Amino acid sequence: MTDSNAQQKPHDQMAAYLADDLVDVNVLIRARMASEHAPRIPEVTAHLVEAGGKRLRPMLTLAAARMCGYEGPFHIHLAATVEFIHTATLLHDDVVDESAQRRGRPTANLLWDNQSSVLVGDYLFSRSFQLMVETGSMRVLDILANASATIAEGEVLQLTAARDIATTEATYLQIVRGKTAALFSAATEVGGVIAGADETLVKALFDYGDALGIAFQIVDDLLDYQGQPATTGKNIGDDFRERKLTLPVIKAIAKADPEEHAFWKRTIEKGQQEEGDLETAIALLNKHGALADTRDEAIEWAAKSTAAITSLPDHPVKQMLIDLADYVVERIN
Ligand code: IPE
Ligand code: IPE
Ligand code: MG
Ligand code: MG
Repeated sequence: MTDSNAQQKPHDQMAAYLADDLVDVNVLIRARMASEHAPRIPEVTAHLVEAGGKRLRPMLTLAAARMCGYEGPFHIHLAATVEFIHTATLLHDDVVDESAQRRGRPTANLLWDNQSSVLVGDYLFSRSFQLMVETGSMRVLDILANASATIAEGEVLQLTAARDIATTEATYLQIVRGKTAALFSAATEVGGVIAGADETLVKALFDYGDALGIAFQIVDDLLDYQGQPATTGKNIGDDFRERKLTLPVIKAIAKADPEEHAFWKRTIEKGQQEEGDLETAIALLNKHGALADTRDEAIEWAAKSTAAITSLPDHPVKQMLIDLADYVVERIN
């Protein structure tokens, strides 16, 4: 390391601390994403995996296990499991969302086709289950199997809430908690469980992951309107085009006058979008302070995540987890 720790981003600091473990995780991911029989599988998985990704969820698992003093080998399997589940959901998600960009590259559904993305996603899901079975822990299986079901549930709930401009913030929270936070909380929880940590600690890790995941998705939804594609690796305005009721839009609709209400009805409910509508939508979000309010909410959830672990015994990883929560929200600035 040439930089002092203080100059590194929390995410990089954690990656540096977990560097050896992360190497093992990457080796395991590479080994298990192969397929002897279907060359399309390594083509698609390599495309996504080589593009990187922040590896946030596997780091959470590794960090949680380390913080709980784990010294066995299975946190590596669990971190790879979590990243496989994540990658599988991204493959499926980009089909469902008809997205064209992911991790700064064209999506697999664009480069190959929807069939390949769906089937390779299924393959990765199955591989993730093989990996977690190797840990021999029924409790870990239970947590990750539940998380997988909850993610799918969240995605389906979002599908039915899309285009419904009466969607409430409560429904939004339920969607986000399912599709995103479930994997964050499972990632931190299994790290504690594999280490045999006491239940108070496991619960704290779960609560941290849950709130962090919610903050993370709120930020992602904000970046969909105000991010830089060069840094997010994704397009702006995807959610608007897909007619998704994300938090900024829900907040702006709550304050809409009749004319604005008609705009949201036309663009989101009826899907009659014209040139310039995205710009109008963004202007309305700004007019009602919806982006700023959404940002505040993300900050609140980040604060909840750190509050969940502040009373835990001191450990270098604990401070990194706290800094990471700040970083998740800083992505907005
Ligand atoms: C993308 O997650 C999916 C969301 C929950 C918003 P990440 O932003 O962690 O994706 P990668 O792995 O870094 O590409
Ligand atoms: C992320 O949801 C996918 C899952 C959490 C399953 P989004 O559709 O909101 O995320 P991006 O913007 O495509 O990464
Ligand atoms: Mg998507
Ligand atoms: Mg989606």
